[in-house]
Amino acid sequence: MARHFDEQKLVIASHNPGKVREIADLLRPFGVDVVSAGDLDLPEPEETEDTFIGNALLKANAAAKASGLPALADDSGLAVDALDGAPGIFSARWAGPEKDFMIAMKLVEELMRGAEDRAAKFVCALALAWPDGHTEVFEGTVAGDITWPPVGDKGFGYDPIFIAEGETITFAEMEPERKHAMSHRADAFRQLVAACFQSS
Ligand code: IMP
Repeated sequence: MARHFDEQKLVIASHNPGKVREIADLLRPFGVDVVSAGDLDLPEPEETEDTFIGNALLKANAAAKASGLPALADDSGLAVDALDGAPGIFSARWAGPEKDFMIAMKLVEELMRGAEDRAAKFVCALALAWPDGHTEVFEGTVAGDITWPPVGDKGFGYDPIFIAEGETITFAEMEPERKHAMSHRADAFRQLVAACFQSS
């Protein structure tokens, strides 16, 4: 059984205001007062682990320790079967210092050239850490295929080359609400809410 979240306040271990707003919206129905690592001026730890869960835990534990409050962190990315799960935890880093995802998508396509297997998945790991050291982790996924060339301008990151299973358009062509309902992030949050926030 996962530990139920009964505190008043939660730190979102992210310096990305968009992410913090999205998570705050999701947790509003549970009456949780959300603050961000940025608001508290917490340092951003280096992501040194080699799994999504490892990096999410590292960020959540660092924020819980520094703030004395429970903290929630996420780590996400694209894992391509034919590339043995790459770019994986390096998804953001493949876009370089300018965060140019056209470069990252081209790299995926170049490395996949000739591969018959186009399968890939987006992964989102969530880690919830309490100041006493207790942690809970969840991993959400959405399976699909890599398409080329990139299509659509609604999403971000690798959305223009990802077609989810059972769909005919990329995540970047979809209305955001539709993507958000089926995404890896939605999957991970459903698991988190069911395990730690909903009353049994
Ligand atoms: P982070 O978890 O914020 O570090 O994000 C990791 C990287 O994974 C992002 O910069 C994106 O490149 C990629 N990524 C994560 N989720 C998505 C998504 O929903 N669509 C497209 N790319 C994503």
